[in-house]
This record gives sequence, structure tokens and C-alpha cells, in this order.
Amino acid sequence: MIEPDAYLQQTPEVAARFEKLRRRPVILDVENLRKEFESAHGSHVAIEDVSFQVRRREFVCVLGPSGCGKSTLIRILAGLDFPTGGDVKLDGKTVRGPGSDRGMVFQGYTLFPWLTVKKNVMFGLKVGGKPGHLAESEAREWIALVGLSKFENHYPHQLSGGMKQRVAIARALANNPRILLMDEPFGALDAQTRAQMQSYLLQIWRQVDITILFITHDLDEAVYLADRILVLDANPGRVMEFIENPVPQPRSPEQFQQAPFQALRARLDALIHPPKSGNEEKLPLTRMTVVGDDVD
Ligand SMILES: Nc1ncnc2c1ncn2[C@@H]1O[C@H](COP(=O)(O)OP(=O)(O)O)[C@@H](O)[C@H]1O
Ligand SMILES: [Mg+2]
Repeated sequence: MIEPDAYLQQTPEVAARFEKLRRRPVILDVENLRKEFESAHGSHVAIEDVSFQVRRREFVCVLGPSGCGKSTLIRILAGLDFPTGGDVKLDGKTVRGPGSDRGMVFQGYTLFPWLTVKKNVMFGLKVGGKPGHLAESEAREWIALVGLSKFENHYPHQLSGGMKQRVAIARALANNPRILLMDEPFGALDAQTRAQMQSYLLQIWRQVDITILFITHDLDEAVYLADRILVLDANPGRVMEFIENPVPQPRSPEQFQQAPFQALRARLDALIHPPKSGNEEKLPLTRMTVVGDDVD
């Protein structure tokens, strides 16, 4: 039998893939990032000393348990919140607020409900100063890319959850960002739609010159999507490891059952859910039935 860890050792093909990736230019450079929140109950360090780099056209997943500071991190990258320490650089320039160089897709549906699909996608283009007819033709191309041409005149309430997120992706990409920041974008979808959305996203990523930073707490999602996985610890959020994903690309759902996928998944599981000491608290077992009224 082959030891599971053997699948995590890089084959020459995988090593060559990452060697090539390391030669690409750095797009996002995060250095010693720290965020401390002040509240009535005192201060709370959400993330501490987080440093990493993302390279051009890379797909990076940030994985960590709930509450470890993933959303705090992505909000800082988006310029929606400010760090208490450290620095974020996009293309060498320090991030000081929101900008069209970053596209955002969140879990909650953020489309304008009073605008059609097409107008939602055109919105940012028009704000950016594109003349109407150009904005419209570009919006149509992005809508076609996410497979929703037949729905361009529908309103968000006429679409399913998965379709709304596809519009959100089209809208984010239409503004021609350098990086797409996604915070658990498929978290509210049912399992089947979610799997479909993951495949769509990989297809889109292959066709567009875009770098993706994707946040998730789902191990399978991270292994399926990522080139590399940044694993965060909780309380405070720190970088545990930045793992090169050896699962061959292009990815397909059949790989879920295969050894390299399962080996990486097991490793991530051990990092995020370390083995329990065995003396965790048990619930007191109190009998709530009357003697003699057993069901059997
Ligand atoms: N605006 C805020 N004020 C105070 N504490 C916050 C704020 N936002 C997040 N936190 C705290 O920071 C920690 C990380 O939160 P968050 O980034 O949302 O985690 P995740 O997205 O990984 O679930 C949590 O303990 C959370 O309660
Ligand atoms: Mg979050």
C-alpha cells in the first residue's frame, strides 16, 4: 500500500508546474498584516503577522475555520477596512481604499434588484466613464461568458441563487480588475449548485486573464479550486501553511475520489481540526423517559 503522504510529494510534473508559477510576477503582496478590533469588552486581535504573495493568474484559496479572520483579511485587501499594522500592495502600490483594480464577490447577493442582469453588469462600466453602447456590448460579452445570455433582460428576483452569483462574477470581471476577491461566494448555495458553480468558476478562470483569491472554510472546495492553499489558524488568524496543491489540472469532479485529492484533504483536515485530547466535555446523559415507556 502507498502511504497517503506519498501523494503529497511532488512529482516532476507538479514541481515543474510550480517552478513556472514562481516565475510569474507578484500581483498581491501582503506583509505582516495585523488587525486588532477595539470593543467595549476590550481589544481582540483578529489577524496577526499575516504575510503572503499571490502571483499573476494564480488561484489561491484561503482556508480556515469560522472566525479565524478570513473576512477581515479580504475586507482589508478590498480596502473596505484598514489594518492596524502591516501593508497590502497590489502591483506594488499600497492599498488605501476600494478601487476598480479589485473585483469583489461576496456570499450575500449584491446585485441591484431594480436593474436587469445587463444593466447590473453595465453599471460599473458606465460609472467608469464608458459610453452606453460600448458598456452594453462589453456587458453582453461577460454575460455570455457566464452562460446567461438568455437572461440578460431578467431582474435578479427572477434568477436562482447560482445564476445571481454568475451575474455577480460577470459584473466584477466587467470592470477589468487585476484580482477577483471572493468571500465564500457559494456558501449559501445547495450542494449541487455549489459544485456546478465551482466548475463554472474554473472554466471562467481559464478563459480570462484574472488572478483569484477565494475564501472558504470548505476543504473539498479549496482542493478542487486552488493552485495554492493558504491555511489560517484561529485566534488570532495566522498563516499556518501555504500549500502547493499537487492535484493535476484541469480539475474534474472525478478527482474527489482519487488518492492525491484525498491525501491533501486529510492533511488539511489534520491542520484545521487537530486530534482531540480525548478529555473533551461529554454532555450529561439524563434519562428523559419514564421507566417502562421504552420505544422498543
Ligand atoms: N467589526 C468588528 N468588530 C469587532 N470584532 C470583529 C469585527 N469584525 C470581525 N470581528 C472579529 O474578528 C474575528 C474574525 O472575524 P471574521 O474575519 O469575520 O472571521 P471569518 O470570516 O474567518 O469567519 C472574529 O472573532 C470576529 O468576531
Ligand atoms: Mg467570513
